[in-house]
Amino acid sequence: MPLLLEADAALARTLVPTLGPHAEVIARPEELDTLLQRRPHFAVVIGPGVDLQVGLVTAEHVKLRYPATAVVLVRETITSDVYAPALDAGVGAVVAHDDSQALAAAVGRARLTWESIQGPATEGRQAGHVITVFSPKGGVGKTTMSVNIALALTALGSRVCIVDLDLAFGDVAITLQLIPSHTLADAAGFEDQLDWSMLQSITTEHRSGLSVLAAPTNPEGRERITATLVRRLLAQLRDHFDHVVVDTPPGFDDQVLGAFDETDEVVVVATLDVPTIKNVKVAIETLDLLHLVRDHRHLVLNRADQEVGLTAANVAELLGVPVDLTLPSDLAVALATNNGDPIVSAAPDHVVARSILDFARGLPGVEVSPEAVVSGRRGLFGRRRKEVAR
Ligand SMILES: Nc1ncnc2c1ncn2[C@@H]1O[C@H](COP(=O)(O)OP(=O)(O)OP(=O)(O)O)[C@@H](O)[C@H]1O
Ligand SMILES: [Mg+2]
Repeated sequence: MPLLLEADAALARTLVPTLGPHAEVIARPEELDTLLQRRPHFAVVIGPGVDLQVGLVTAEHVKLRYPATAVVLVRETITSDVYAPALDAGVGAVVAHDDSQALAAAVGRARLTWESIQGPATEGRQAGHVITVFSPKGGVGKTTMSVNIALALTALGSRVCIVDLDLAFGDVAITLQLIPSHTLADAAGFEDQLDWSMLQSITTEHRSGLSVLAAPTNPEGRERITATLVRRLLAQLRDHFDHVVVDTPPGFDDQVLGAFDETDEVVVVATLDVPTIKNVKVAIETLDLLHLVRDHRHLVLNRADQEVGLTAANVAELLGVPVDLTLPSDLAVALATNNGDPIVSAAPDHVVARSILDFARGLPGVEVSPEAVVSGRRGLFGRRRKEVAR
């Protein structure tokens, strides 16, 4: 979508109709970075009310930091001495404030250029939901949950990407029997140059249709993945997928905190033992302190079928978060994972798979497509597998 920089509300109102219904307006150049980092924009339009020098400095900044974004300079009157400095600053077009045809054409060109680099512009479409699967404890079932939730959402008709943020010990790819030729490490250092074609080139497609952004395969890769990169990656991915599922290492590290900035829903995984519940309580208090995903927390109790003196009701009361899903410990779950065919795709009728599918169905942004009906013998992914095989 285009972004208009114009402090004068009356001037802004005259330009917005030409820019389209999804144009965003900001009054100060200082607001630019927050918006451009959060959501890509194909054009920045500098309004006629913006001082020329401020406009030129802004244009230069935009072209340097967001090269795929075009800059259009709108002036009350165009004098010949505007063109040279505008060109130097990287402005793509200079148009008069009352020439709506020229403005529409400049914005149209910006969109076309953007789409040839980044894929379709996404205004009008609700951005995808980022679902982060988290626990302060290791081995409680985060990867099992994230992979199965991602497969469940895919089976329900969503376009899904799973991102493995367990940068040192990530096992999402192996859980899906994939040997990725590219990983997150290939995005390291590209904070300012992420685009759709690059993201496509580093994801691996699972036979179900699920896209996988795998963890680096060596430790150096991990060091080079910054929290900013994680934030921008997720911001870009949500523009192209209905759901982005993030698997995480145990606890908060910089990259996980970066992911939380873009997270809409967090799935907290716990088991029914006192040390885990104590740590989960501390983690939830940390989320409170940071004002993160306050009303969008889902508690999953995994392997919660044994009598250990704690019940789901105790835990919900202790943590102040309702339990959304309770799963038993079942050998079939571990076996399915070890076979590289997680339970949701290997045995969609299994009680654990059904529970995860029900849980996924309740997540925001899920519109169950008519084809996505569990079909007995062929299995949940039968149709998609056939499509892929063709
Ligand atoms: N409900 C379950 N029933 C049986 N086995 C399970 C269940 N959930 C998880 N497991 C098994 O427990 C082990 C740990 O699960 P998983 O790898 O998902 O945990 P994790 O929280 O991602 O661990 P880490 O912190 O090491 O990344 C795996 O072998 C998995 O197959
Ligand atoms: Mg894991």
